[in-house]
Amino acid sequence: MDKFVIRGGDPLLGTVRVSGAKNAALPCMAAALLTDEPVILENIPQVRDIQTTRNLLAAMGADVELGYGRAQHRTTLHCKTLAAPEASYELVKTMRASTLVLGPLVARCGRARVSLPGGCAIGARPIDLHIKGLEQLGAKITQDHGYIEAAADRLKGAEIVFDKITVTGTEDLLMAATLAEGETILQNCAREPEVADLADLLNKMGAHIHGAGTPTIRVKGVSQLKGAKHRIIPDRIEAGTFIIAAAMTGGDLNVAGCDPSHLGALLSKLHEVGVKTKSSADSVRVMGDNPFTASDITTEEYPGFPTDMQAQFMALATQAEGTSIITENIFENRFMHAQELVRMGANIKIEGRRAVVRGKTPLSAAAVLASDLRASASLVLAALVADGETIIDRVYHIDRGYEHIEEKLRGVGAQIRRIGEMFPKKAAAPARA
Ligand code: UD1
Repeated sequence: MDKFVIRGGDPLLGTVRVSGAKNAALPCMAAALLTDEPVILENIPQVRDIQTTRNLLAAMGADVELGYGRAQHRTTLHCKTLAAPEASYELVKTMRASTLVLGPLVARCGRARVSLPGGCAIGARPIDLHIKGLEQLGAKITQDHGYIEAAADRLKGAEIVFDKITVTGTEDLLMAATLAEGETILQNCAREPEVADLADLLNKMGAHIHGAGTPTIRVKGVSQLKGAKHRIIPDRIEAGTFIIAAAMTGGDLNVAGCDPSHLGALLSKLHEVGVKTKSSADSVRVMGDNPFTASDITTEEYPGFPTDMQAQFMALATQAEGTSIITENIFENRFMHAQELVRMGANIKIEGRRAVVRGKTPLSAAAVLASDLRASASLVLAALVADGETIIDRVYHIDRGYEHIEEKLRGVGAQIRRIGEMFPKKAAAPARA
C-alpha cells in the first residue's frame, strides 16, 4: 500500500492545473451505455474510480479505448452490444457510484443486474431512491443474493418526487428517463453542476432534457440515442482543495482551469475566514499569509457548502483563531479525519453531527491513516503546515479521486513523495466518497 511522506512548512507558489471532475465523468461514462454508437469524453481525470468504471463497462462488453500521449485524458466508449448487463460485487464494492449503471442498463437492455453496494466508510448510503424511482418508471425490481435485478420491456415516463435530494439518484433516473416512453418529470432533484454536465452530454446524444441544474427536470423520452463528443467540466472539489492548501501554507497560487462559478459557497466562506482570492473566468488566485478567523459551516446540497469539502475545511479551521462549528448534514459518520487531525495536535470535539474545532493549534507531524477520499485530502492539507515529516498511510483512497496529487503539489513547491511498501498487500477496505 502506498504512503505519502510530506514535510510541512513550504508555501505553495505558482500555478496548479485542475483536472476534469470525477463526479461528472462517472455518470457521463455510464451514459455511454444508452447508445450503440461511440461516446467520446474529453478531460477525463486519470483517477482510480475512472479506471474502475472502464473495467465495469468493458466487463459488460463495451469497447473502451484510451487516448495516448497528449490525448490521454480522452476516452472513447462504444457499447455496441452489451452481452452482460451486469455489475459484479467485485467492482461495485470499491466504488458505490457503480449504481449509476442501473438506470441506463434497464433503459437500454430491458434488464440489469447490479450488486448492492457494501458497507460504507462514510455512513449507510442506501440506494432506495434509485430503486423507487425506477419502479415508478415501470421497472420490476427484485433483490437476490446481494444483487438488484431490474427488468422492463420499455420504461414509461412518470412524475417522480425524490423524498430526499440525491446526486447519483437524480443522474441515474435522468439517464433512464431519456429512453422511456413519454414524459418524465423529476422533482426535488440535485442541482449539482455534475447533473447539468450529464444532461448536456445526454442532450448532445439526442435526449430532450430541460431544467437540469434546477429542482425540476423534464425529460421527453426518445426511442434511441446516438453517439456524441463531450468535454467534462473541471473538478470543483479538487480546485477547492488546492485553494485551501494555498491559503493554509501562506502561498500565492493560481488554481487554473477551474470554474469559479461552481465554487460560490466555498469562496464566500473562505473570504469570511480571511482568505484572499481573485477569480477570473477560469481560475482562482489565492493570496495567503493572512491570519484566519474561525467560522461555522453546515454542509448542504449544491449550491450550499459541499460535504466533499468539509474535511478540508476542518483542516483549515485548526489554523483559524477561535471556535469553528462544522455541521455535517449530508452523511452521518463523516468525521473520521478528525481523530487523525487530533493526533497531529488539533483540538476537535465531535458531538453527533457537529465537530467543534478550537484554534489556532500548531500541528506536528505524525503517522496517520487515510480513511476515505476527502478525509485523505484533509490529512494532506494538515501535513503541508505541520512541523516535521508526516506519513499518510492508505493513500489509495486519495488516488480514487485526485489525479497525481503529489506531482501537482510538488510542482508548486510542496515537499511530498510517494513511497510503496516493499511487500505490497492488496487494498481491501471498501471506500466511498
Ligand atoms: C454524490 C457524490 C459524492 C458526494 C455526494 C453528496 C458522486 C459520484 N458522488 O454521492 O462525492 O459526497 O453526492 O454531495 O457524484 N440517500 C438515500 N437514498 C438513496 C440515495 C441517497 O437515503 O437512494 C441519501 C444518502 O444516504 C445521503 C444523501 O441521500 O445521506 C445524499 O446522498 P447522494 O446525493 O445520493 O450521494 P451520492 O450520489 O452517493
